[in-house]
Amino acid sequence: MNDILRLPPRLSQLSDALSDRELHKISQLIYRRAGIVLSQQKRDMVFNRLSRRLRELSLTSFSEYIAILETQPESPEWQLFINSLTTNLTSFFREAYHFPVLAQHAQSRRSGYRVWCTAASTGEEPCSIAMTLDEYLGATVSGPRVWASDIDTSVLEKATSGVYRLEDIHALSLTQKRNYFLRGTGENSDKVRVKPELLSTIHYQQLNLLDSKWAAPGPFDAIFCRNVMIYFDAATQARLMQRFAQMLKPGGLLFVGHSEHFNHLKGRLRLRGQSVYELVEA
Ligand SMILES: C[S@@+](CC[C@H](N)C(=O)[O-])C[C@H]1O[C@@H](n2cnc3c(N)ncnc32)[C@H](O)[C@@H]1O
Repeated sequence: MNDILRLPPRLSQLSDALSDRELHKISQLIYRRAGIVLSQQKRDMVFNRLSRRLRELSLTSFSEYIAILETQPESPEWQLFINSLTTNLTSFFREAYHFPVLAQHAQSRRSGYRVWCTAASTGEEPCSIAMTLDEYLGATVSGPRVWASDIDTSVLEKATSGVYRLEDIHALSLTQKRNYFLRGTGENSDKVRVKPELLSTIHYQQLNLLDSKWAAPGPFDAIFCRNVMIYFDAATQARLMQRFAQMLKPGGLLFVGHSEHFNHLKGRLRLRGQSVYELVEA
C-alpha cells in the first residue's frame, strides 16, 4: 500500500488503494461538513488530492486517514481535508454578462451599496465586483463594501494577499489594469498585486454556507453565489435559496452560475434572466 501511494498513480492502482467503502465514507464526511456531493466518478480526483495528505501524515491507508477524521471532529485536519476536496476554479470577470447588471443595479440604489460574495475562492470574483462598484459608484466609501467568504482557508490566504499572475488579468482593459493593479518588478515581473485602495474595499472571511448561522453582516443589496451550488444536492440548494432571500434588502439581486437553475423553487426570489434572481415582496 505504501508503495502505491508513493508512485505516480496509474488507474489500475487507484482502485486498489482507495476502496469503494473508503470512497463512500469520504463522500459522507465531506457531504456532512461542506454539503459537497462527491460521485463515484470522482475516485481519481479524491485519490490524487488526499494521497498528498496521507504522505504528509505518513499514513499508509485511506482507512487510517478516515479514522483520524471520525475520531477527532475538532482536529485541524478537518480544514485540510475540506481544502483538499474543494474545486476552486475561477477567473476575473467570469460570466462577464453579470457585471453590467450589477453596475446598473448599484447605480440605481447607490448609497451604502453592499455585496456578499459567498464562494470567493482565490479572490478574482470579489475583485471584479469591487472594480465594478468603484467604476460605477466611485470611491465613495472608506472600508469594505464587498464581503467575500469561502469555506477553504488556503484560497482565502491567496485572495487576501491580492497577488496574481500577470496573465490572469490579460482580459481586463488597460484602464482597469492601470487603476487597480501594481506590476511586480525584477523576479516578480510576471506578477501583479491588487492596489491597497481596492483591496481595502473587500473584507475576506472564512464561512461555510452550511453553518446554521452566517457571520455575514446582512442585509445586502446583492449576493453572488456562483458555481458552488452545483456541488450541492437539491435539498441544500433549496435551503440556501431561502436563506439568501433573508439576507437581501428588498429589490436585492442574487447572482448564480449559468448552469445553476432554481426557478422551480417557490419563494421570494424570482428569476430576472441571465441567472440573476430578484427579491420580490412576500
Ligand atoms: C468553483 S469555485 C467558484 C468560485 C467563484 N464563485 C466563481 O464562480 O468563479 C467554488 C468555491 O466554492 C467553495 N465552497 C465549496 N463548498 C462551500 C461551502 N460549503 N461553503 C462556502 N464555500 C464553499 C469552494 O471552496 C470554492 O472556492
